[in-house]
Amino acid sequence: MDKFLIRGGKPLSGKISVSGAKNSALPCLAAPLLTSETVILHNVPYVKDLITQRRLLEDLGATVLTPELRTHKVTAANIEIFEAPYELVKTMRASVLALGPLLARFGKAKVSLPGGCAIGTRPIDLHLKAFEKLGAQVSIESGDVIARAPNGRLIGAVVDFEKVTVTGTENVLMAAALAKGKTTIRNAACEPEIADLAELLNKMGARIRGAGTPTIEIEGVEQLGGAEHTIIPDRIETGTFLVAGAITGGELEVKDCEPQHLRAVIEKMREAGVEIEELNQSTLLVRRNQTGLKASDVSTEPHPHFPTDMQAQFMALMTQAEGTSTITETIFENRFMHASELIRLGAKIDISGNTAKVHGKSALMGAPVLASDLRASASIVLAGLAASGETVVDRVYHIDRGYENIVRKLRTVGADIVRITDQLTMSAGEEV
Ligand code: UD1
Repeated sequence: MDKFLIRGGKPLSGKISVSGAKNSALPCLAAPLLTSETVILHNVPYVKDLITQRRLLEDLGATVLTPELRTHKVTAANIEIFEAPYELVKTMRASVLALGPLLARFGKAKVSLPGGCAIGTRPIDLHLKAFEKLGAQVSIESGDVIARAPNGRLIGAVVDFEKVTVTGTENVLMAAALAKGKTTIRNAACEPEIADLAELLNKMGARIRGAGTPTIEIEGVEQLGGAEHTIIPDRIETGTFLVAGAITGGELEVKDCEPQHLRAVIEKMREAGVEIEELNQSTLLVRRNQTGLKASDVSTEPHPHFPTDMQAQFMALMTQAEGTSTITETIFENRFMHASELIRLGAKIDISGNTAKVHGKSALMGAPVLASDLRASASIVLAGLAASGETVVDRVYHIDRGYENIVRKLRTVGADIVRITDQLTMSAGEEV
């Protein structure tokens, strides 16, 4: 397994560029399953999850061409298989996004039921209840979700989510786009990725209004067609780079981002003493305030509030703030795996239920640490950049799922970070 070796303590400076949003590209890559025409997507990040999503489409019978590294041309004219197998779903939960489009277009779909993962149980019951509302018959057999539209087509309905779910909202958006009649989604997720998917679907001929707000209305259409679309910038990668600049006491220009998509993160970081300037509509300049960082409390909530996907990185930052910060995780029940790794680097953190108290400021010192999930990995890389000495991060395949070329990007702004492949690690005499 590959590792990162970080020699920390160097302020980062220069320009760093943000890739397309993984969490937008995933549903947008599932949307072409709704049509036999070609959908062209630009700014698709080159990360592991998207390679997995592409494999899923190809397994189903779609053709995916990549005329350029970050452009995907998807044609789902000849779909022969209507199922996402466990081998894929277990490596990437977002494969459940195939369910909505397959069910809507072909009236049948089978997707392996995702199990729990490092951050919680993560059921998909709300997706399934919503499909039932749209007239589908849903059953679970031998670990697979089997869904059918009795007369071949879903029927529009009111879907009132009892809890905000991002991929649940996306699945229903795609399913309802081809349903007969009108669907209203209430308590819909408002994440920018929802609006991005809706924009693509509307370009394909869907009739969706209100995406990005809690109420979305969809007039089902008979069929959808081809379209061309550019994926929005990744707001979580943007936030991660803002923390990288702040935690190392450097000065970073974060380019190709969309500041409007991470207002809550920017505000919270400013409250903690980080200077963030908006140089233009797509560039942020981050530097640490002269007086240093101060403790700041945060609670994760659905968009537009502070995102759970930035909680781990913010915790890393708060290890460098004076005072005690209280961090409350309300979205996932087990999302503090990074805390024990940060403690190995010298942080002082107490966990009680869904609350973490971070007592700063700690002098972080490099150590061997383990990446447990995607965002946890980002937080320990950030802490490693701020720590003195060497940090070795193991199991970096987690970070490869969602951060494009993180090592190369960080190196261009002065970080001392290298990737060690298995072979090199072994020749250096370490056990793997
Ligand atoms: C998406 C994001 C993920 C982010 C999360 C919350 C993608 C590919 N992933 O995940 O990065 O951390 O939103 O912003 O976009 N829930 C249920 N039943 C369901 C569905 C969800 O109980 O059927 C619960 C979940 O366990 C969780 C909460 O609802 O506690 C929110 O989950 P959800 O928004 O669905 O997360 P994902 O869409 O899986």
